[in-house]
Amino acid sequence: MLQIKTKITYNKKIKGSYFRIALKAPGIAVKALPGQFINIKVSDSCEPLLRRPFGVHRVKKDDIEALYEVVGPATQILSQRKPGEYLDVIGPLGNGFTPVIKNKPLNILIAGGMGVAPLVFLAEKLKKSKNVVLIGAKTKEQIMCEKEFKDLGCEVKVATDDGSTGFKGYVSGFLEEVLSGAHYPKSVVYACGPRPMLKEISRISKKYNISAQVSLEEHMACGVGACLGCVTNTRSGFKRVCKEGPVFNGDEIIW
Ligand code: FES
Repeated sequence: MLQIKTKITYNKKIKGSYFRIALKAPGIAVKALPGQFINIKVSDSCEPLLRRPFGVHRVKKDDIEALYEVVGPATQILSQRKPGEYLDVIGPLGNGFTPVIKNKPLNILIAGGMGVAPLVFLAEKLKKSKNVVLIGAKTKEQIMCEKEFKDLGCEVKVATDDGSTGFKGYVSGFLEEVLSGAHYPKSVVYACGPRPMLKEISRISKKYNISAQVSLEEHMACGVGACLGCVTNTRSGFKRVCKEGPVFNGDEIIW
């Protein structure tokens, strides 16, 4: 884990309220694994006081990238930061996904909303395997990273709550439809998104005898395991999402 001043390489709007930021951080880039996150101090002042966690979205040579949506004051400030400016960053943090490559399983990557961010990095690591990506969002406009996954050779399917494109309904329901319509004896599920979605994904994966690695999204204060503000209940006691997670086996969590 490093704490460094990183120079902003770029900070661009992708569409709507979604942005991608790249930070020059060779020390973090060389160590980061899919599912790990960085903690960014978005301004040099005391406001906002707390850092914000962002899953590592991609690593490009010395740059680490994060994908974010402007949803409040902190991300609003971040969206105004310019290339050449510096941001204080801690990372890489947490325990990420464990890519399963042995026996060439079919990898099913499932993203809800901004859950796409770390899964692009994971898809890069799994590039030599067969990967199916299910992306869920409220509307067609909120589907992110379809092209990035396709460029990595993934088969991409989408689900929207309003049915504006793809399967109509939650992406968890879509997973059930996909699994019930085919036989996937050697699959591994990797999922990132809101907790109710991950709960469903874990239940469905268990039903089909598939192991599921889920990345929990939790509010964090310190992000480094010190404040106990992010604990979740598991079969082996309370665990800190920022330290023992954010990735857990779906079976391990007491939902
Ligand atoms: Fe402080 Fe996890 S955010 S322990």
